[in-house]
Amino acid sequence: MACQLKTLLMLLVFLLISNLQHCVNGRPQVPCLFIFGDSLSDNGNNNNLVTMAKVNYQPYGIDFPAGPTGRFTNGRNIGDIIAELLGFENYIPAFATAPKGFEILRGVNYASGSAGIRNESGQHLTLYRYGARKVVLYGLGQLGSIPAVLSLCGIISSSCEDSLNKVVQLFNDRLISLVADLNKNLWKAKFILVNTTSMEYASSTFQGSTVTNASCCELLGFGQFQCSPSGYVCHNRSQYMFWDAVHPTEAAYEFYMGRAYRAQSPTDAYPFDISYLAKL
Ligand SMILES: *[C@@H]1O[C@H](CO)[C@@H](O)[C@H](O)[C@H]1NC(C)=O
Ligand SMILES: *[C@@H]1O[C@H](CO)[C@@H](O)[C@H](O)[C@H]1NC(C)=O
Ligand SMILES: *[C@@H]1O[C@H](CO)[C@@H](O)[C@H](O)[C@H]1NC(C)=O
Ligand SMILES: *[C@@H]1O[C@H](CO)[C@@H](O)[C@H](O)[C@H]1NC(C)=O
Repeated sequence: MACQLKTLLMLLVFLLISNLQHCVNGRPQVPCLFIFGDSLSDNGNNNNLVTMAKVNYQPYGIDFPAGPTGRFTNGRNIGDIIAELLGFENYIPAFATAPKGFEILRGVNYASGSAGIRNESGQHLTLYRYGARKVVLYGLGQLGSIPAVLSLCGIISSSCEDSLNKVVQLFNDRLISLVADLNKNLWKAKFILVNTTSMEYASSTFQGSTVTNASCCELLGFGQFQCSPSGYVCHNRSQYMFWDAVHPTEAAYEFYMGRAYRAQSPTDAYPFDISYLAKL
């Protein structure tokens, strides 16, 4: 009897492990993931470009297994976390690493630090022509409230934070009607908009503890955005919203992307969240 029970227990443990393996190795919720964006998703595309916007040096990547890879944060970034949430086994490779063959069919990350809104990058209709049917857009964050701007605003005027956030809101409000139009006019395509502002309002506590809006790392200098290669780095990084003067920490990205994937407030994503989009 005891022996039988032991066998059963071992069997259960085995099944659990094989189920877990099945989860990890299972098919992702969507066949492929293509990432377009700026430094919030860049995973090394800028490393060999002639640009100031590159961060393949310490302390960037201090919490990333491969160290400083060109990700503009301490650990995983938006593109990495969303790939994980969608069940991909690996992160989506950077365009700069020249993915080949079948690898390309699974997705490519084209994000490049300091990329901006330009006519040349307004490619959503082209993407549609190539077969993209599920598109996630991210609204702008409260640019007036990032450490880089706050320190400059301190010198300029106390209302510059608010006026910058108002401009962000104007832009985001127009995105709603853009998404509504695209959903109406592009046959069988579904677009959603992630409302970063909605999450920022809820962000002063996450993971059950109070967080600060200050930068975690010591900056290159006043008015500089990036971490100093030899500077101080905060230890309790999960209690910081910002890694450097511009970019959120991995902990903040987890908070934002968790809510983008599964909304916790009706304003987090419009018209629905990423988990719902993936199932359509
Ligand atoms: C971008 O495109 C719009 C619409 O075609 C045009 O009005 C605008 O001047 C263009 N902007 C630039 C910077 O080329
Ligand atoms: C985003 O969320 C904020 C805060 O909840 C809300 O005021 C705003 O209307 C929302 N914007 C969009 C575009 O949904
Ligand atoms: C951080 O900034 C956000 C967005 O402006 C704000 O809502 C939040 O209250 C701030 N948190 C702290 C701790 O100051
Ligand atoms: C942890 O981070 C907070 C900011 O939220 C800071 O005020 C506090 O001093 C830090 N604690 C330690 C032990 O470093």
